[in-house]
Amino acid sequence: MKTPGIVSTISELRGQIAQWREGHELVGLVPTMGALHEGHLSLVRETQKHCQKLVVSIFVNPAQFAPHEDFDRYPRSLESDADKLSTVGADLIFAPSVAEMYPAGFATSIEVGGPSRGLETDFRPHFFGGVATVVAKLLIAALPDYAIFGEKDYQQLLVIRRLTHDLGLPIEIGGGAIVREADGLAMSSRNAYLKPDERRIAGTLNVILKDTTAKLRSGATIATAESGATAALIAAGFKSVDYVAVRDASTLERIERLDSPARILAAVKIGGTRLIDNMAV
Ligand code: PAJ
Repeated sequence: MKTPGIVSTISELRGQIAQWREGHELVGLVPTMGALHEGHLSLVRETQKHCQKLVVSIFVNPAQFAPHEDFDRYPRSLESDADKLSTVGADLIFAPSVAEMYPAGFATSIEVGGPSRGLETDFRPHFFGGVATVVAKLLIAALPDYAIFGEKDYQQLLVIRRLTHDLGLPIEIGGGAIVREADGLAMSSRNAYLKPDERRIAGTLNVILKDTTAKLRSGATIATAESGATAALIAAGFKSVDYVAVRDASTLERIERLDSPARILAAVKIGGTRLIDNMAV
């Protein structure tokens, strides 16, 4: 157990990282919005395989929430997050204020095309602009050797890889496997919103995606698999299905056949909560 330090300004963050760099240590960054769970901690452990020093950023980024979304009620728990991070040996928490990340007059945004088209963007058009801008800012602030993002947010991971490559940032972007609850539900800070009956239904999302993957592997067409999964999700009790889509795993473009690596991605609503999940086909 070691208690990580906490800094809230970019200049303190840079000062600490510069000190580590004098000792020739490799630095890793795990960007998060806090309310940490085992999925986040698995990213910390993975990063420790690549780096000697590890920064976790905790920032609930207003730019990636639409006005009607859950920015105000998003869980915030810096103290218990710091306790969890001390059990895995993180070195530093960067927890900036909104004013630190978006100083008065802030007027810059980063827009990524390619993998950000469609899927999440069809339902949350503001989302990847907000994510790309804050992640670019975090990456430039820390300039780590390695930064990691979870496959839980698969489209986000591809958008960030695209952005890092396009801007020529000298940072390796790792992808972390999805950590799940015992019934298969992907861990998420938003699972805390689920009422007990919703929580039970939520566990079927992963089961239905797995069944659909099995059907695709045994010859079902993509169109049949997608519509079958949508019907199964509604029958399981989800209020609505934003999408279930089988896409090329590296570009997220539509595909006709499974002759290259593919990914199935889904977003559903239950009560007032929106859940996403995905897996390799
Ligand atoms: P947040 O939802 O807090 O997630 C932080 C990181 O943890 C993301 O890379 C996400 O994909 C990963 N993660 C979440 N649940 C996971 C799980 N069950 N298994 C594995 N990894 C998981 O994603 C964001 O924050 C924000 O958009 C951010 C990138 C920090 C930009 O604001």
